[in-house]
Amino acid sequence: MSKKTSESEKTQDNDYSSGKILRSMNTSPHPLAQKIFIENLELNLGDPQLFPASFQLENETIQLLNSLANYSKNTIFGNFVSGGSEANILGLWAARNTFRKKTGQKTGQIVLPETAHPSLLKGVDLMGCELVQLPVDSSFKAEYDLLDDLDEKNIVAVVGIAGNTIAGVSDPLDQLFKIASEKNLWVHLDAALGGFTYPFLGEEKHLLYGSLEEGKANSMTLDPHKMMSIPIPTGGIIYQNKEMIEEISYPIPYLGKDAISTTITGTRPGAGMKALRAMLTDPNYGWEYYRSVVERCHNDALWLKAELEKRGMKVPIAPETVITVAQLPSGKEETQKLINLLQEKGFMVGSSQGWMRIVVMPHVKHEHLESFLNVLEETTTKMI
Ligand SMILES: Cc1ncc(COP(=O)(O)O)c(C=O)c1O
Repeated sequence: MSKKTSESEKTQDNDYSSGKILRSMNTSPHPLAQKIFIENLELNLGDPQLFPASFQLENETIQLLNSLANYSKNTIFGNFVSGGSEANILGLWAARNTFRKKTGQKTGQIVLPETAHPSLLKGVDLMGCELVQLPVDSSFKAEYDLLDDLDEKNIVAVVGIAGNTIAGVSDPLDQLFKIASEKNLWVHLDAALGGFTYPFLGEEKHLLYGSLEEGKANSMTLDPHKMMSIPIPTGGIIYQNKEMIEEISYPIPYLGKDAISTTITGTRPGAGMKALRAMLTDPNYGWEYYRSVVERCHNDALWLKAELEKRGMKVPIAPETVITVAQLPSGKEETQKLINLLQEKGFMVGSSQGWMRIVVMPHVKHEHLESFLNVLEETTTKMI
């Protein structure tokens, strides 16, 4: 590639440091994480014979996450994968194959909230299952009462989202756990966002890591390349215990007798796992560092809610994590026009189901939000 082409590609791409990327759930990787990532480019977690020490570290790192969140029974098992999408698909795959073994039925229903990330829709499709979508209430939370209308004998899995893509809120997980335990259902939690936000923001942490150890959930998606600022591609899937993945474990004989693949990809980067481990164990960073980052982002999301309301926008909920959703009083269409105009001015704000969504990730600083509000004010004044 010529130097010219690569420069022109660079100028067309957006840059997190501009402070104008306000809709991405990814962020600029932390400098220490970048350094460790680059030092581990050769590392393939798919080949335990060649990389036995790092293979061993993988599960230790998963346990480290658990213990940092104050859970330490060490029964959970997990893998680092390409991202939240692969993790969601793996959770549904493990559920579908377990369902097949248990019931002898080839297929069944997968129940998802309407707010589910598209990767879960892909998962339902790939599993050859029937999609059942649960409506959400005015706070963007799934209405699990509707599970009572379904025959549990046909349910492969039901999904709870901890930090959904549209509004960053959590479904009523206690209700989900109660129904699932009565009906003996596989629960997959999508905590791609919430797995690394809720543990720092109060009481909900027991609903995540603890839910696996306490047997309330079977599988859970994490995504260190979101809030943990680890380079792409670094997702994670964790399970209640190793039994959960028996039905998706494939021996890879040409890589040695210990090579059992439990993920979709064979060759699997380990650099993100190493970078995460370094961030968690470095005395200058660790859990407390992440707590301060998440608290700052959450406080800014709350501040933004108040500022948008002052400017006449409708903000239906207080941000639970790092996403603020808002709408113009004139409705969805005008809001979409506003989003388009803001994007023309370089502010990449999100749009979902007629709502403008702002995601306050670590690269978004308070002053970036102040500049954004000035441009928003200017733009809405011209629209009237
Ligand atoms: C709730 C949720 N789950 C899963 C994903 C998919 O993650 P990835 O983009 O890492 O595949 C996202 C992405 O934003 C998400 O918001």
